[in-house]
Amino acid sequence: MATLASGFVLFRRETPFRYLTLRNARHGDVGLPKGHLEPGEGEIEGAIRETEEETGITAVRPNDWFRRKILYRSGGGTKEVTYFAGETSAREVRLSKEHDLAEWRDLDGTLAAIRHGNLRAVVRDAAIFLKDPILRRGLSPREAKALLASRVAENVVAHTAEVAAMARLIGEGSGNPDYVEAAAWLHDIGRAVTHDDRHPLEGFRLVVALGHPGYAPPCLSHYTKGDPDPKGPRYREMSEACDLETFDEAERAIALADALAAGPRRVTLEERYEDLARRYGPSPFLERNLAICRRLKADFEAQTGKDLYALLAIR
Ligand SMILES: [Fe+2]
Repeated sequence: MATLASGFVLFRRETPFRYLTLRNARHGDVGLPKGHLEPGEGEIEGAIRETEEETGITAVRPNDWFRRKILYRSGGGTKEVTYFAGETSAREVRLSKEHDLAEWRDLDGTLAAIRHGNLRAVVRDAAIFLKDPILRRGLSPREAKALLASRVAENVVAHTAEVAAMARLIGEGSGNPDYVEAAAWLHDIGRAVTHDDRHPLEGFRLVVALGHPGYAPPCLSHYTKGDPDPKGPRYREMSEACDLETFDEAERAIALADALAAGPRRVTLEERYEDLARRYGPSPFLERNLAICRRLKADFEAQTGKDLYALLAIR
């Protein structure tokens, strides 16, 4: 029987995100807050208790959509540790005797400090799930376009070209227009795998597998439009892949742009959803999506003082 333990990828939502690492006082290995479960104790409960014991931090918001298990040999037995994502705004750390150094590091620093590959993979997966902005680099719009064009049919590329151009205009104020455009180029890459409602998830997985994890979340969020439906068929699967509760300006730009391109043509939201209803049949999903898009458009116009359709030369 494996000994059971649980812990957190404990992070602060700064730019970039900061992750808490603890150095073991005995052997010097750097790890995350975690420890053995007490008899009858739940995994989240144990992770919260251990985090408090090891760091003095009590204000943790656990997110159990993110759950990763690692197994390793320890003292002649096997140890199984389950990690969850845990957000905190606390900064101050009060160490126990078990550790001699606590540091809030960015993703690169965290990955460099951790020796074990399986634990590094947990942190990297958590950063993708949580949409750490540090992952939003390395791919120019031109490279993203080439990546898409090498995998999907021409009509998808034509549609995506309009989405990418519009997303760039909408996301101009986001501070990272190259990211917005490159991620927009990849939003429908899941169409290379499937044309059904799994395409957002397949796109997400494909972009991660291609080594550009920071560009994967918009594959999901263009579909949910930042308002995931807890009753939707893919909710659980998508929530496990990526944090659907957060939706930033870059994702909004891509989701809105996608809602304004019927194939390669720029159209109003109403025209787009009429087109979709003609192609797939009317559905509560489409109605819900249209309502969300109207809200996104209104939010964008209120925040920027711009007329969205005028900005994009629609009508
Ligand atoms: Fe699209």
